[in-house]
Amino acid sequence: MRRILIVLAIAFLGTGCENYDRDLWEQSSFKTQEAPRKWKPARSVPITGLIENYREIEGVTLSSPFEFTNDAKAAGKPLYDVYCAICHGMTGRSDTLVAQKMETMPFDLTESSTVELTDGEIFVKILASEGEGGMPNYRNELTDEETWQITAYLRKLQGK
Ligand code: HEC
Repeated sequence: MRRILIVLAIAFLGTGCENYDRDLWEQSSFKTQEAPRKWKPARSVPITGLIENYREIEGVTLSSPFEFTNDAKAAGKPLYDVYCAICHGMTGRSDTLVAQKMETMPFDLTESSTVELTDGEIFVKILASEGEGGMPNYRNELTDEETWQITAYLRKLQGK
């Protein structure tokens, strides 16, 4: 008898679900753990001009518009600590708990393979990453100037 009741209860609960209107679910607002959608009105143009995404640009052809002075490095530190340290560590060695859990270990940024990259290649890696191995793309978070400042600070971590 109890089993029959349970079956009936499940059947009863199940029937209610089909007719739910999903409008409230399938809407343009964003959900928990989902990035806010940055939809722009069609044909709109940002007042700051076109923002270059650097996807088609070879990093080696770029160089910083300013010198990597101590001020530039100091400006890059808080940005690096917020955006990069979670994976690459405060020292750039990628010795973090997050790094250990990732399928592709984030590179030790103080190793020669990264030290040998040009400033422009690092800049492009930050702004135009296509997410390989989990390295995020920061085009929506960082301006060009901030990205050069982070690059300057990374050079400091590399002992330059
Ligand atoms: C979610 C973890 C994560 C965060 C946050 C992150 N990275 Fe990475 N990064 C990676 C991984 C994983 C790789 C290696 C994957 C690859 O490039 O194929 C990588 C690669 C790199 C490389 C390439 C190194 C080389 O020798 O080719 C650079 C440079 C780099 N990251 C810099 C940064 C900087 C600067 C920031 C902050 C603006 C940052 N990363 C934030 C995970 C991360």
